[in-house]
Amino acid sequence: MQSTHLSSSSLIHEGKAKQLFLTADPQILRVRYKDDATAFNGQKFDRLLGKGVLNNLISAHIFEDLANFGVPSHFINRVSDVEQLVRRVDIIPLEVVVRNVVAGSLAKRIGWGEGCPLNQPIVEFYYKNDDLGDPLLNENHIDLLSLASAREINELREQALKINELLIRKFSTIDLKLVDFKLEFGRQPDGILILADEISPDTCRLWDRKTNEKMDKDRFRRNLGGLLEAYQEVWNRLNKVEDA
Ligand code: TMP
Ligand code: ASP
Repeated sequence: MQSTHLSSSSLIHEGKAKQLFLTADPQILRVRYKDDATAFNGQKFDRLLGKGVLNNLISAHIFEDLANFGVPSHFINRVSDVEQLVRRVDIIPLEVVVRNVVAGSLAKRIGWGEGCPLNQPIVEFYYKNDDLGDPLLNENHIDLLSLASAREINELREQALKINELLIRKFSTIDLKLVDFKLEFGRQPDGILILADEISPDTCRLWDRKTNEKMDKDRFRRNLGGLLEAYQEVWNRLNKVEDA
């Protein structure tokens, strides 16, 4: 597939892992997945050639799958190796994290070992604010900051849990354990919330079901090496199921 050649002036936002461009249609944006890998609020940085291609493929595949199960997202279609078209939404500055197994910041916060299963999923909200280091928020904080209404918070939680159920099932078919993941949502012009951003090994913890090997961005965060090989393996498994 060819990359769409628009002038760089159509760039409207650059994040750590993606760029957002305007298109001729004001309701549609073009997302470009970068090869950049960052962690710890951008303090750790590397460029891993091929990560953008893999995350574009994986994220597109998962968004399509969720749509087939009645969970729409901003995703429209993939238009090149590293680009997809998405519906323009107002991103709610909350990272909605769902956890099935203790890992990462939850392990640190509660002092439990990584790998302890949770008997029910935990939903957490983090404030998307680099200056503050994306702190954990409760519902009172979200209200205080006017980030989302009580009704919207309930809906975010419900949608996140529904997506969790679907993704657990999806990943278990390819022998991956969904440890935790992060979602972002946006408001459409009519105010309706819709899943946005990306779902990829950058934003999920995925462990091999048999070996517990980490197949996600923790390979980069923890200097384990082999990030591209792991992402490629996730893609191969997803793609194989589709072919079957
Ligand atoms: P955490 O354990 O570091 O809080 O991460 C929880 C999940 O959220 C994990 O799957 C990785 C994902 N995540 C992001 O996608 N972006 C981030 O900036 C952070 C901190 C975590
Ligand atoms: N997105 C985060 C950053 O660079 C890191 C992470 O995923 O851990 O800052």
